[in-house]
Amino acid sequence: MAKTKTSYFCQSCGFQSAKWLGKCPSCNAWNTFSEEILVKETKNTSGSSSLQRARKPQLIQEIDVENEQRFSSNDSELDRILGGGIVPGSLILFGGEPGIGKSTLMLQLALQAKGIKILYISGEESEQQIRMRAERVGINNPSCFILSETNTQNIFKQIEQLEPNLVIVDSIQTLHTSYIESSPGSVSQVRECAAELMRFAKESATPVFIIGHITKDGSLAGPKVLEHMVDTVLQFEGDRNYIYRLLRTTKNRFGSTNELGIYEMRGTGLRAVDNPSEILITQRNEPVSGVAIAASMEGMRPLLIEIQALVSSAAYGTPQRASTGFDLRRLNMLLAVLEKRCGFRLGVKDVFLNIAGGIKIEDPGNDLAVVSAVLSSNEDLSIPQDVCFAAEVGLTGEIRPVNRIEQRIAEAEKLGFKKIFISSYNIKGLDVNKYKIKVVSASKMEEVFGLLFG
Ligand code: TYD
Ligand code: MG
Repeated sequence: MAKTKTSYFCQSCGFQSAKWLGKCPSCNAWNTFSEEILVKETKNTSGSSSLQRARKPQLIQEIDVENEQRFSSNDSELDRILGGGIVPGSLILFGGEPGIGKSTLMLQLALQAKGIKILYISGEESEQQIRMRAERVGINNPSCFILSETNTQNIFKQIEQLEPNLVIVDSIQTLHTSYIESSPGSVSQVRECAAELMRFAKESATPVFIIGHITKDGSLAGPKVLEHMVDTVLQFEGDRNYIYRLLRTTKNRFGSTNELGIYEMRGTGLRAVDNPSEILITQRNEPVSGVAIAASMEGMRPLLIEIQALVSSAAYGTPQRASTGFDLRRLNMLLAVLEKRCGFRLGVKDVFLNIAGGIKIEDPGNDLAVVSAVLSSNEDLSIPQDVCFAAEVGLTGEIRPVNRIEQRIAEAEKLGFKKIFISSYNIKGLDVNKYKIKVVSASKMEEVFGLLFG
């Protein structure tokens, strides 16, 4: 059996010495050295250090949280999404469909964060291509390094020399480690490369951002294990044909997953959108039929969204139902409720639904606005432009309450709306007199239609 290797570590500052010392040469503390076992590196641990310190249990009160101080990415949206900045040693997975702007956002992060050394590793683009993109974005950073490399052993060699404070990897699917035979992008390669990066992040307390592509069905390409390994999963979504991009967290060990960031893709890179509601609503001179505004919640953020519907007689036999940005099954359900409970003959009509701005919404609180837009188009009667809706619609045609109603009302009021329709179950405990906006409550869909078109 091989002899166990040991070394002496200062318990107050972590200084390592081959023999016992009375006084630590690093922090000058007395009698702080104790012997610890060193673990021999196995073949597939990262190349960052050849010998690791064996961990010992620590009392929870004695664990230092001072070291966990976050630093800012200089991007207010990203900081907020991460729960207040970047945590040292965190591993962050940044997923999104190809062409959505992942590389652009990460490069901007690399260029914006001033005063720290950043290494941007790209396995997809050459240094020249990245330089061109950086010029397009138009930010200069003297401490941003670019490395075009796909082999993790080479990457760690460079990292060891450069000692960056932040590492960005674009993308995990292009990396490969020499310890595994399979081709880059395969499950075992992705998992092993991510594991190496995780070990590096934890050992060196360097935050690492990993870009990952998303497959057509919306899951991260490669194994699900990637999501378990990392501390935070960020998702970048949006329609490539539109300029808006939504940044969500689907997992965050250091903050809430309810945050939402909105970016706008310009010719000069991505810009955070401060007042999303104002942009998502079309300013019109005259009201048109088939448009209703939903006072929606995206995560923790109130957002007013324009919902457009078009209802017309089905020209060819089977009526069509299509929707962009809204769940088609939910639309079909709402149409069935209208048909069955309210007697509108929509079964013979084509129904198209569109959420303005190319964004996707999931909040059930948009139901009432969707139903109102459909009926507005069906009846060809417009809804006044200063009216909005925030309620869910149940299968019996009842108007159901939604969460965070105060925030929704406040946002609608801020944007100058005069009237908001909510569920009567939501009105309990709500001081409607404190708002300038008129809060109208209803418990049945018929009541809403009576008030709107009656
Ligand atoms: P990219 O970041 O390469 O996407 P990903 O890494 O997610 O595949 O972004 C690609 C798109 O963004 C591309 O179609 C061009 C567009 N774009 C802009 O519109 N403005 C810009 O300033 C930049 C850099 C890109
Ligand atoms: Mg890219």
